[in-house]
Amino acid sequence: MALIDEIKRRRTFAIISHPDAGKTTLTEKLLLFGGAIHVAGAVKSNKIKKTATSDWMEIEKQRGISVATSVMGFDYEGYKINILDTPGHQDFAEDTFRTLTAVDSVIIVVDIAKGVETQTRKLMEVCRMRNTPVIIFVNKTDRNGKNPFDLLDELEDELKINVRPLSWPINQGQDFKGVYNIYKQKLDLYRPSKQVVTESLEFEDITSPDLEQHIGENDAMQLREDMELINGVYDAFDVDAYLSGRLAPVFFGSALNNFGVKELLDCFVEIAPCPRPIVSEEREVKPEESAFTGFIFKIHANMDPNHRSCIAFCKICSGKFERNVNYKHIRHNKQMKFSSPTAFMAQRKETVDEAFAGDIIGLPDSGGTFKIGDTLTAGEQLHFKGLPSFSPEMFKYIENADPMKAKQLEKGVQQLMDEGVAQLFVNQFNGRKIIGTVGQLQFEVIQYRLEHEYNAMCRWEPISLFKACWIESDDNSALEMFKKRKAQYMAKDKEGRDVFLADSGYVLQMAQNDFPKIRFHFSSEF
Ligand code: G4P
Repeated sequence: MALIDEIKRRRTFAIISHPDAGKTTLTEKLLLFGGAIHVAGAVKSNKIKKTATSDWMEIEKQRGISVATSVMGFDYEGYKINILDTPGHQDFAEDTFRTLTAVDSVIIVVDIAKGVETQTRKLMEVCRMRNTPVIIFVNKTDRNGKNPFDLLDELEDELKINVRPLSWPINQGQDFKGVYNIYKQKLDLYRPSKQVVTESLEFEDITSPDLEQHIGENDAMQLREDMELINGVYDAFDVDAYLSGRLAPVFFGSALNNFGVKELLDCFVEIAPCPRPIVSEEREVKPEESAFTGFIFKIHANMDPNHRSCIAFCKICSGKFERNVNYKHIRHNKQMKFSSPTAFMAQRKETVDEAFAGDIIGLPDSGGTFKIGDTLTAGEQLHFKGLPSFSPEMFKYIENADPMKAKQLEKGVQQLMDEGVAQLFVNQFNGRKIIGTVGQLQFEVIQYRLEHEYNAMCRWEPISLFKACWIESDDNSALEMFKKRKAQYMAKDKEGRDVFLADSGYVLQMAQNDFPKIRFHFSSEF
C-alpha cells in the first residue's frame, strides 16, 4: 500500500473521561468490534483494567488504578485504529496531557447522570489549546439521568465548545428504547444485552406511522418533537467545524450494554482526522513526507519486573519507520537503530518491521537514552515542540534516607523525572531538591519506585508552596534584579530554566505588581 494510503487509513485517538464514566468499558467494546479481543461483553470493568489496559507496574496491581497509559491498535473496516488509553486517576493528569500531544482526535465519555465533571473539564482545556477534534459519547443511557437537552447545554457551557447531537436517546433508564441515529437516519432499538449487538433499522422518515410500532405512541411523539427542536436549535452537522475543534458531535449510548458503540465507531472512522501536520521549531512536518520523524511522548519503565528496562513511546509524525535502520537522536546527535521496536496490538506487544505516520511504536531503552520530548529523524535537524510542563499543585523536599545510597537516589530521581513522573526543581538558595506533582499519589509512586527499581530510600519533607512560575523578561537587568530580590524563592527546573516558587497567591500577586517587566508563566511552554 502506498504511504499516503497507509496514513489516510490511520485514526489515532484517546478516550478521556472523569473516572467511572465508562472509559474502560467503551475501550473494551471498541476492541471487541475490531476483533482485537474476543471476550464478548460482560467482562467486569475492573477485570478489563487488568487485561485490556496495561498492568505493567506493580503499583497498579496493588492499587487497582490504571497508572499507565497504554496503546491499543487494531484494524476495523480497512482502518487502522490506535487508541491511546489514559490514566483515569487525576493524580496522573500530567501523563494524560502528554498523551493528548500524540493523538489526532479525542472521544470524551460523559456519564448521563453526572454530566460534566472536573477531570473532563480540565482535559477539555488541553484539547482546546491544541484545537483537537472532539466527539462526545454520553454513556449509561440505560440509567436515569439528565434531560438530554439540558445535558447538551451543560456540555456547551462547561466544555466551552459548540455541540451537535448525531444520535438521540429514546427515553432513558428502565424505559430506554434505543437511539435515533441522526447521522445515518436509522432507528437503533435497544435490547438490554451484554452479548448481542443492537437491532438497527433504516428509518429515514420519522413521521412514518411505523415508528409507533417500534417504540410506542408516547415515545414516538416525543422523538418527533425532540427532532424538530434539534433541527431548529442546531445547525446541520459541519465536519470542518468538528475538524477544527470548534464543534463536538454528540452520541448517546450504553457502553456496558454495547449499545450505540458501533454507531459511534462507524461515524468516528468516517469523520475523525487521519494524522495531521505537526509543527516543529524549524518547520511544519507533513505526515506524508517520506522521511521518518517522530517524538517521544511517554517513557514507561520496568514493564516486565523481571527484566529491568524502559520502553519509550514514539509517535511517528511523518513517513515510514523501519526496523534496523539508522535514525538520528537529535538531542544526543547520535545515530541509533532499533532491532526490536514494538507495536501495540490490543493486549499484546509484538516486534514490527515497519510503522507509519500516526502509529505509536515502543522503543526499548535500557540505559536512559530517551527523555520525554526527544525527537528522532531520518537525519534532518528538527525539534518537535508541544510537550509543556504545567505548574505542579503539590511540592515536597526530597531527602536521602540512606546515606550509603546517594548515587542510586540521584540516578533514580533523574530517570524518573526524564520519564515525566513529576517535576524537579532545585532551589538556588540552599541547593535543596523539590519535587512537584499533581497529586499525593505521585509521591508514593516515586518513593515506591526508588526503592524497588533503584534500591534507594527517600524521605519527604514539607514545603509550603502555591505555584511554580517560569519567568522571563526582555529586560535582563530587571530579571537579574528580580532573581536577587527573590533569591530564596528562585529555583531551576531540570532544563535549567528559571522558576519562581511562590508560597502564596498573595506573594505571587505582589511580585507581579512589583515587577511589571517580568512575565510569569504557569506552563513551561511560552
Ligand atoms: P472508567 O474507566 O471511566 O473509570 O469507567 P469503567 O469503564 O470502569 O466503568 C465504571 C462503572 O460504570 C463500572 O461499574 C461499569 O460497569 C459501569 N458502566 C460502564 N458503562 C455503563 C453503562 O452503559 N451503563 C451502566 N449502567 N453502567 C455502566 P462498576 O460497578 O465500577 O464495575 P463492575 O463491577 O460493573 O465491573
